[in-house]
Amino acid sequence: MSSGLKGIKTIRDFELADKVLFLRLDLNVPIEHGKITDETRIRESLPTIKYAMEKGARIVMASHLGRPKSAADKQYSLEPVAHRLSELLGLEVILFDDPKSDAIKSLIKVLKKNQAILLENIRFEPGETKNDIEFATILAGYTQVYINDAFGSSHRAHTSISALPEMVKDRGVGFLIEKEIHMLDQLLENPKKPYLAILGGSKVSDKIGVIEKLIDIVDGFIIGGAMAYTFLKAQGKPVGRSLVETDKLNYTREMIARMEARKKNLFLPVDHFVTTDIASGKGEITKDGTIAEGMMGVDIGPQTIKNYCAAIKEAQTIFWNGPMGVFETPAFSQGTFAIAKALSENTGMTIVGGGDSAAAVEASGYANKMTHISTGGGASLEYLQGMKLPGLEVLRTKVRTPSI
Ligand code: 3PG
Repeated sequence: MSSGLKGIKTIRDFELADKVLFLRLDLNVPIEHGKITDETRIRESLPTIKYAMEKGARIVMASHLGRPKSAADKQYSLEPVAHRLSELLGLEVILFDDPKSDAIKSLIKVLKKNQAILLENIRFEPGETKNDIEFATILAGYTQVYINDAFGSSHRAHTSISALPEMVKDRGVGFLIEKEIHMLDQLLENPKKPYLAILGGSKVSDKIGVIEKLIDIVDGFIIGGAMAYTFLKAQGKPVGRSLVETDKLNYTREMIARMEARKKNLFLPVDHFVTTDIASGKGEITKDGTIAEGMMGVDIGPQTIKNYCAAIKEAQTIFWNGPMGVFETPAFSQGTFAIAKALSENTGMTIVGGGDSAAAVEASGYANKMTHISTGGGASLEYLQGMKLPGLEVLRTKVRTPSI
């Protein structure tokens, strides 16, 4: 077992036949005009659901979707997810909208073998994001076994992630969390060398924690995306109108010095793809590392791509979080997609953080060539930084009150 799961039980440890299983999943998938545009999180939840069905559990699934302000925000309904789950599982998924009612208990009693309940968006309940004891007590009132398989939400101290399992004696994690922690632990515990961290995205501030944690573990950092312009500006290089976190310049300077002192390789862009206007979808390649006044960087340039791909080729372990440019615009996607391709050709371990990075790898077409793509954006970064995830920590604590 991965050390990150020490002291935590898994779904295999419980007798599930006829038991009411509360299964917290992260089914927070992107939906446009009622259509799911990326169902990765649904598919990744299937092994645990199928296992519980095979073992004869009475399943009550719960998830949030987006950040609704109230139950009136119907665009955040899990209805399309319930429909898709039904198709993928080949059983009837009943979307139930009042987890606090007595009706749910009645429904659980008469649930048939080919049926499972999915609670409507758990954030429609005002108590969910408040880690509310009262709401948790009601849920615990009909939960016999609690399983958290919502890796992407495990950094949230919310009722269905934290307060509820604190009250249930039989609790543990599902197969997705097991896989995620196993993969992420490999980045922290004896990773094969050379080990490269590729960090992109817009802000240095989002990555400070992970850089601080990895600085002693990795052999080098590759920096791309808008955060690279803060690095370059910190080195006194001209970055034109590119996005820069001015209040992080001193910190970045100090961090570069520490990387040098520890003899870590730091790869920064040596040329760029720049534009005057992102919305135009057009731009040009710079001659060198200089970004002219009035221009802003939106992707890494061809020489940078060559340098980064050469470093990736040598690495045995790679962690990638954050795109190299504004990859959603085709003209600015070359850097990100080239990195995805280079990772796909690497024979070592390639682990991609969730969120934007997962979306970028999906868009590149190389997703199935990665060792692992995390389903958690914030959760994977927090875990790698060494932060305690409330959704895991609670499973190691003493049970607070009897569940019934
Ligand atoms: C995510 O998409 O990162 C998770 O589902 C968590 O969502 P949240 O940031 O709204 O809590």
